[in-house]
Amino acid sequence: MVAVRAHGRINLIGDHTDYTGGWVLPMPIDAHTTISGEFVDDRHWRLVSDDEPEPIDISLPVVDPAKVVPRWGRYVAGVLHQIEAAGLAPRGFRGRVSSTLPIGSGLSSSAALEIAVARVALTDVADLSDTEIARLCQSAEHLASGVPCGIMDQLCIAAGRPNRATLIDCASLAIEHCPIPESASFTYEFVMPRTLSGSEYSARVSEAARATDLVGPLRDATLDAVLAIEDPLIRRRARHIVTENRRVRDFAAAMKSGDIETMGTLMVASHRSMQHDYETSNDVMDAAVERLLGESDVLGARLTGGGFGGCVVVLRRRDH
Ligand code: GLA
Repeated sequence: MVAVRAHGRINLIGDHTDYTGGWVLPMPIDAHTTISGEFVDDRHWRLVSDDEPEPIDISLPVVDPAKVVPRWGRYVAGVLHQIEAAGLAPRGFRGRVSSTLPIGSGLSSSAALEIAVARVALTDVADLSDTEIARLCQSAEHLASGVPCGIMDQLCIAAGRPNRATLIDCASLAIEHCPIPESASFTYEFVMPRTLSGSEYSARVSEAARATDLVGPLRDATLDAVLAIEDPLIRRRARHIVTENRRVRDFAAAMKSGDIETMGTLMVASHRSMQHDYETSNDVMDAAVERLLGESDVLGARLTGGGFGGCVVVLRRRDH
């Protein structure tokens, strides 16, 4: 018997920077996905889910994860496919998936499922590092959903620690586990459902690549170089990424010195940048941020994650 748990994540600051090799600062949350069950001798993965009407039955080797039905099985198949592509041979498994992570809420329920599947499937098969597991699950997500996501969600979920934010340099994949100042607490609020495969996420990835073609790696680009980009749309996209990278590092420094007012200011600036420059917000998410900023203990609030819906992350004074 095995039982594995993988937590969801919120992103405190640093959105749409990971796939350009920038910096991100996500944090694992209490809500999680659990897989429990037992290994079996035939080469099938059979799972039931507390949240899905239909079970999955995937036979190994997996041929095309994107064709698996029901659809939730694609994430499972993607991970098994990538483990096999790494030359490893996962065993058959029969079990149950249960989750306290709401699906489609922007809290990385798919990445949590992938990491949990990987940890089960790799048991007694290979001892991969958290970073290797995250990379494998990121490519599984690409195969399963067709969304060209970055590594933030999978790496935070694989390597994150309780009550620590996970500062990730998405170029080197170096991680720093950052304590939260005692005077601060983070909460998150679900606002509206979203799905990245139905969103403009892929368009943003292409626009960021066009900006990189013009000014080189955005993590090294100056604001002046970005402001000289002729195309106004690409200029705004690049300005978000360059300023957001700066905000992540300033936020991490403010967190270290316990400067929670600056943390709040940076979160609001990050939201405005997503609202106007990267255009990953919408009226409903903007209204939620404005409402939360009106609460007396709130220092900062921003859309968290891929955008186009999902959750708002909120920084509050803890003494409240
Ligand atoms: C989604 C992706 C991540 C990241 C965020 C935006 O959560 O899976 O890789 O790009 O959006 O920061």
